[in-house]
Amino acid sequence: MTNIRYLFEPQSIAVIGASHDTAKIGYKLLENIVVSSYPHKVYPINPRGGEILGLRVFKSIQEIDDPIDLACIVIPAKLVFGAVKSCAEKGVKIALIITSGFSEVGNVQEEKNIATYAREHGLRILGPNIFGIYSAAASLNATFGTRDVRQGNVAIITQSGALGASMIGKTAVENIGISAMVSVGNKADIDESDLLEYLITQDMTKIVFMYVEGVRDGERLVKVLNEATKKKPVVVIKSGRSEKGAVAVASHTGSLAGTDEVFDAIMKQSGVLRADSIQDAFDWCKFLSNNPLPHGEHTVIITNGGGVGVMTADACEKYRVKLYDDVPALTEIFSDVIPDFGSTKNPIDLTGQATTSEFDGALNAALNSDNIDAVITLMSEVAVFDPENLPGLIENHYQQYKSQGKPILFSCFGGDKVESCIKTYSTEGFPVFGDAYEAVSCLGGMYSYYNYLINRSDEIEVADIQVEAIEGIARRVIENKRNFLLAHEAHGIMKAADIPIPQSRAAHNLDEAVKYSEEIGYPVAMKVVSKDIIHKSDAGGVALDLENGDEVMDAYQAIMQHCRTYNPNAKIEGVDISEMAQPGTELIIGARRDKVFGPIVMFGLGGIYVEVMKDISFRAFPLNRNEVMNMIKEVRSYPLLLGVRGEKKKDINGIADTIIKLGTIIQKCKTISDIEINPLVSYEQGKGVKALDVRIIL
Ligand code: COA
Repeated sequence: MTNIRYLFEPQSIAVIGASHDTAKIGYKLLENIVVSSYPHKVYPINPRGGEILGLRVFKSIQEIDDPIDLACIVIPAKLVFGAVKSCAEKGVKIALIITSGFSEVGNVQEEKNIATYAREHGLRILGPNIFGIYSAAASLNATFGTRDVRQGNVAIITQSGALGASMIGKTAVENIGISAMVSVGNKADIDESDLLEYLITQDMTKIVFMYVEGVRDGERLVKVLNEATKKKPVVVIKSGRSEKGAVAVASHTGSLAGTDEVFDAIMKQSGVLRADSIQDAFDWCKFLSNNPLPHGEHTVIITNGGGVGVMTADACEKYRVKLYDDVPALTEIFSDVIPDFGSTKNPIDLTGQATTSEFDGALNAALNSDNIDAVITLMSEVAVFDPENLPGLIENHYQQYKSQGKPILFSCFGGDKVESCIKTYSTEGFPVFGDAYEAVSCLGGMYSYYNYLINRSDEIEVADIQVEAIEGIARRVIENKRNFLLAHEAHGIMKAADIPIPQSRAAHNLDEAVKYSEEIGYPVAMKVVSKDIIHKSDAGGVALDLENGDEVMDAYQAIMQHCRTYNPNAKIEGVDISEMAQPGTELIIGARRDKVFGPIVMFGLGGIYVEVMKDISFRAFPLNRNEVMNMIKEVRSYPLLLGVRGEKKKDINGIADTIIKLGTIIQKCKTISDIEINPLVSYEQGKGVKALDVRIIL
């Protein structure tokens, strides 16, 4: 981590490939460094020597006597390894490789060799395939992008160089102040986690925006994000949401994008705000970095138009902004400042006859009320409201609200004067919008972060499971050269994790089948046991609801006959006799080791809910019980667990326990890669759950 500081605050820089040709990237980059008023030494390096931009050009890095913190490499790909070696010999701290032509075009090995060599020689690499770094902390623009950077408090990390380079210009147009802008490119060494770790500690940076295409070490990223979001908001755009997008991303960066649902869930879990578009991301960054976090969730809408008020209330529902609805309290706050024919129900309607003084009155009343935490002001241009007064109104109230730690947003609608006011003030960083949805989306982003901070906890819950016993079962399966578990083995693991399963016994012949059925008690279920038959139902290897000895005998013979027809070579060990579980609500619960994010858990309601509606939720494991409950509540079919149509509430605690147990198995038993219980039947609250079918893959 300590090394990363040299990237943002280098005390000396070398540019390897500084060009004499003013059209080349090696010239532009050097020119940007010089023009950005970087206060320390800059050393151009080029075997041709001479002078560029008034600086002496060194023929090699070894010619320089002073130590070098950062070397920017801008020479063709085939020459880069040599330059990296010379940097390592010189004791350079970080090499920033602008050059393209590595893993993004299939030249994977060369990139690996460079990264390995650098790591072994204590040199860190940023890139290759990047546009460089802008760091306000060092007055440094070591990019070949535009020079017009506005200094401020938003740090941007981007995997796409071209997007990043153009964002420098775009953020300037939008008046978004930048504390740092770093392009990570192919991430041969330094990745977004390394950069975030540094940015968390940097006072200048108030918010971090990341554009991500693919994640490699997701487990580490989650840890760093959890630390980062404790201190400052993080906004992420991850491209590759759609299937086509994902394919484009995979070929674009040479790194694989994880499945989008998993990424999305994990970002939410880490308190990250995920934006769909650059515009949303910019709006949120601007709003969150310039405005105070609210003290509570009571928002009021103050409007001079009923229609826009209702539309904005709809937007609040969409973006989960809670409208304050204590009518007596609202009446007390506003009745003196609104006309008799207005409304003190939220939206507070000042009516079309409101002038600046009515707005002043209502906004002051809201500001002075401890019950109100945020205000959305809607102004529609009508004859009695002179848009000339708009700027004064916005400036006055914005400053007062800000000084009291209350967010206020303005959405204005009207003709030329209104439009030009919106443009001027939004560019100046005031929370002024044309469309109320944009305003509410920003406040929604802020509340999402606010709620995360209030509810977050470092506590985690893992279950007390018999790890030795589980690993013993898995070991024996591997010795049998299988990577999947048979029913009795999976049941063994359920027992070792204390997950309830129906009573069952393995019968090796017809007599045992009848005897065990009687011992367990009718009705029973019978399933074939054979390592050669995985899809038991397809093979006709399952019989349910067997009521007596005769039915058990018939079912046994039928199963044997069907399975022999299905696969004549199958080695059949017998049948599994189990108690017929009582019907309940069927769920699906899973845990697996994601190749990007490590252990993750999954929850959904079974049957059509998961298969047709894909109504499932994910989380990275470990997590705390609160988060497990959020995960359960997040699925659309959650109300079914609360009991509908006279049914009683289901055993939600038992479900949460099972999720934690499966997560713990995956986390602690490294040989197991996938567990799925489908169905897990949940009974009424207090009556527990039962795992009816368990699939475990090693
Ligand atoms: N050390 C230092 N300088 C060297 C050198 C070495 N070992 N070998 C060559 N040079 C000099 C060259 O003489 C040249 O200087 P000159 O113009 O004064 O003669 C300069 O370095 C550049 O070399 P050149 O061969 O002209 O390369 P180039 O400028 O055409 O291309 C890159 C170099 C890095 C720009 C190019 O290979 C590239 O990767 N372009 C894409 C960059 C990109 O898009 N990155 C991702 C952004 S998102």
